[in-house]
Amino acid sequence: MKSLSTAASAIKPSATLAINALSQELKAQGVDVVSFGAGETDFYTPDHIKAAGIAAIEGNKSYYTSSSGVAPLKKAICGYLDKTFGVKYENKNICVTSGAKHVLYIAMRVMLNPGDEVILPAPYWVTYEEAIRMCGAVPVILKTDESTRFKISPRQLQEAVTEKTKAVILTNPSNPTGMLYSEEELRALSRVIVDNDLYLIDDEIYATLVYNGKFVSAAAIDPELYKRTVIVNGVSKTYAMTGWRIGFAAGPAEIIKLMDTYLSHSTGNASNVAQYASIAAYEGSQECVEKMHAEFARRREYFVKRVEAMDLVSCLPPDGAFYIFMNVSRTFGMTLCGEKINDSSDFAQALLKHGLVATVPGAAFGSTDHIRWSYATSLENIKKGLDRLEKFLHNEPAANN
Ligand SMILES: Cc1ncc(COP(=O)(O)O)c(C=O)c1O
Repeated sequence: MKSLSTAASAIKPSATLAINALSQELKAQGVDVVSFGAGETDFYTPDHIKAAGIAAIEGNKSYYTSSSGVAPLKKAICGYLDKTFGVKYENKNICVTSGAKHVLYIAMRVMLNPGDEVILPAPYWVTYEEAIRMCGAVPVILKTDESTRFKISPRQLQEAVTEKTKAVILTNPSNPTGMLYSEEELRALSRVIVDNDLYLIDDEIYATLVYNGKFVSAAAIDPELYKRTVIVNGVSKTYAMTGWRIGFAAGPAEIIKLMDTYLSHSTGNASNVAQYASIAAYEGSQECVEKMHAEFARRREYFVKRVEAMDLVSCLPPDGAFYIFMNVSRTFGMTLCGEKINDSSDFAQALLKHGLVATVPGAAFGSTDHIRWSYATSLENIKKGLDRLEKFLHNEPAANN
């Protein structure tokens, strides 16, 4: 048999999905694993959005739509972006796709040529690096750590720019670190992006989940940056709609037009029914968003307090999203529950095996000192997981109950 695509064979599988699969497998075997791997909320989609989805099915929204989405959804997205973040777009600036992950891929597909460089600050969300490579482009990783609150500086950005640099990716607030760039910090980075004629892909999928500081959209701060920014967002995290698969890009009309064309020959439109449910999300009451936000804030506070009381692990209190990026490097060189710990992958594996707690090792996000915990799970689970972590750090395995 002839060999399969070299490019496809080089793609690494998603580490977050892998850890979910492993913990589900253990659960299926009757092992009482507490899972902190998922990057999705544990809430149900709010009732008024579900009702709009049901009405769309009954109203026969079962046909193809324009590849980049239906006009009423684009209008609803423009209204939402203006009202919530103060950024103005028209329908021609919006492309709806099957989830924000898809937006990112299609946006990069139409922006990048093979060999182009894309600057990617680390720690980063797992998909970016692979998506860049899937376009034949080259990720240029900028390392950061706790000393700069995991943020890049304008100087660091400038030093990474070469004649091949095409774009920069920012995630604000960040998955996995939860850090938020302030308006001032964005302005400083904006100067470098504009002066070097780069594009900005600004992933704002967690924009409504901010607990400390104020979220500012990069597209809102500088008209020059606005012209070269593609905002990535969607309903997944804000409205507990991960499975509905609706994401969108907002950006320059030329880019959006190419995305539409690319979609027309690949996936076509995102689900018609899900598009109509998303209109209800953007145009309906935002009380559900506030309620979920309040619950996440409670969990975050509890989580951070518990971690602060532990000696061997630490975390920066996240500004936004729903992740704790825990530094476990103080355990390196130790033996915990009979396992030698040399990096955060060893730690995560030993914690799963002996503590029955599933987390994602930081290597997947570009850091070997950390593990990521998602607190998109109940307070009860968070308490149980952290009790087990404490025991594990004291060399006591969890009882399977
Ligand atoms: C930073 C970031 N961007 C995009 C996505 C993808 O969102 P969607 O489920 O809409 O594809 C995720 C999901 O985990 C994410 O964490």
